[in-house]
Amino acid sequence: MKKAIIIGATSGIGKGLAKILAENNYRVGITGRRTELLKELKDQYPDSFFVKSFDIRDTDTTIKLLDELTIESGGLDLLIISSGTGELNDPLDFNIELQTIETNVTGFTCIADWAFNYFEKQKYGHLVAITSIGGLRGGRQAPSYNATKAYQINYIEALRQKASNLKMPITVTDIRPGFVDTDMAKGEGKFWVQPVEKVSRQIYKAIRRKKKIVYVTRRWGIVAFIIKLIPRFIYNRM
Ligand SMILES: NC(=O)c1ccc[n+]([C@@H]2O[C@H](COP(=O)([O-])OP(=O)(O)OC[C@H]3O[C@@H](n4cnc5c(N)ncnc54)[C@H](OP(=O)(O)O)[C@@H]3O)[C@@H](O)[C@H]2O)c1
Repeated sequence: MKKAIIIGATSGIGKGLAKILAENNYRVGITGRRTELLKELKDQYPDSFFVKSFDIRDTDTTIKLLDELTIESGGLDLLIISSGTGELNDPLDFNIELQTIETNVTGFTCIADWAFNYFEKQKYGHLVAITSIGGLRGGRQAPSYNATKAYQINYIEALRQKASNLKMPITVTDIRPGFVDTDMAKGEGKFWVQPVEKVSRQIYKAIRRKKKIVYVTRRWGIVAFIIKLIPRFIYNRM
């Protein structure tokens, strides 16, 4: 049986992926802050899931519990970072920005580093980060969300380069969703909001194929292409 950990499995994409992995014979460590939701999920697949509840902003606890989870589930082949936060922040409330930075940058980096070091030691592994199409450009509605997603995209690329330099079979996958039907989908002008099940299925397929960068659902690849091409003088007025 393959072993995986999903950071942020209490809801949304992380939960969708947890179910797919369980149905495909994985032993999965599921994490998040909402313990009750993790227990509910465990009740559905008691033999597949191992539960640890923690806040990724507390990096010491995160490392300790990731170590424990890996021992309990008997190893690690795949780690998926699906945790993330982002609030609309028109008034530029610094506390909102700080929460986002602590989760999407500090917590994210702690977990990505822990996973990469683990995989380097065992000489193989697969790290998957759920970033966002939002990381491609700045965004006035939630500046820290777009900026932290740009950080994640850049950071994960660095780890892929590091794996390649090490000449080890460590795969690093960057999944960039467009709008998905979860609590995270916020902001004006939402369109093409995609169901969690469809998005999770496409992500699982990308994981199996060891893809490097994937837009989900596929149609969001077209939007990404256009977003990157919009000239600055037009983008500034949007
Ligand atoms: N939905 C979209 O439209 C969309 C678009 C692009 C990218 N994404 C990205 O997709 C990823 C998954 O989001 P989602 O759409 O599935 O939303 P979601 O249902 O809100 O899931 C977010 C997950 O992150 C966990 N999390 C948040 N803060 C945490 C913290 N401090 N410590 C531990 N866990 C934490 C949550 O668990 P607890 O609250 O239980 O801790 C939850 O399981 C995120 O990285 C998001 O940025 C989403």
